[in-house]
Amino acid sequence: MNRPIRIALTKGRLEKDTVGLFEKLGFDCTAIYEKGRKLILPVPDGNLEVVLAKANDVITYVEHGVCDMGVVGKDTIMEMKGKFFELVDLGFGRCKFALATKKGYDFYSGYGVKTIATKYPNVARSFFEKKGMDTEIIKIEGSVELAPLLELADGIVDIVETGTTLKENGLEVIEDVAPISARLIANTVSLKLRRTEIDRLITLIEDNL
Ligand code: PRP
Repeated sequence: MNRPIRIALTKGRLEKDTVGLFEKLGFDCTAIYEKGRKLILPVPDGNLEVVLAKANDVITYVEHGVCDMGVVGKDTIMEMKGKFFELVDLGFGRCKFALATKKGYDFYSGYGVKTIATKYPNVARSFFEKKGMDTEIIKIEGSVELAPLLELADGIVDIVETGTTLKENGLEVIEDVAPISARLIANTVSLKLRRTEIDRLITLIEDNL
């Protein structure tokens, strides 16, 4: 038998739904549930090997071919771009990128350059470039909603899921930027060399979504 197909899964928010999907496919996920601090986990009946990693790293591993496939959010894909195939929209991890400001703030008025705080500078830059609007983008690592409250930024481009964080901080969405959900991705060479196995997995996944 070939070496297992190695698949990188995003730790955290997407992890539960991804493992849930694997169980639905009939794979034995015991090693994942009992992982402790172990990072490479066998899923023997699927001839798979699971790697748990941060979202950006999932893309890095798949791009470099050390993982054949990955499960990662469209948010990270849009921010990092990179050379790999995006194969399936897995439908879970649904949320959106949105432009938000303090409630009632008239973002599009005036001629001054607006300041945008975001964890996703590439996404924010390309959103405003498409509008032909000059902005200053400031990279923030977390709790981006703080930036307009502290008067660091006029607006934020961030992930909105339930909208609770915005609401509880007196902010509101003024424009949707892009929908987000989890995606199955594959390394370009793996897709050629392990086509049959990858196709089989894709079919199994699509039949179970
Ligand atoms: C994300 C995002 C928002 C929040 C949105 O942050 O950046 O802050 O979730 O969720 P909601 O619409 O359901 O309130 P995350 O929890 O990943 O933490 P971070 O801000 O520290 O990155």
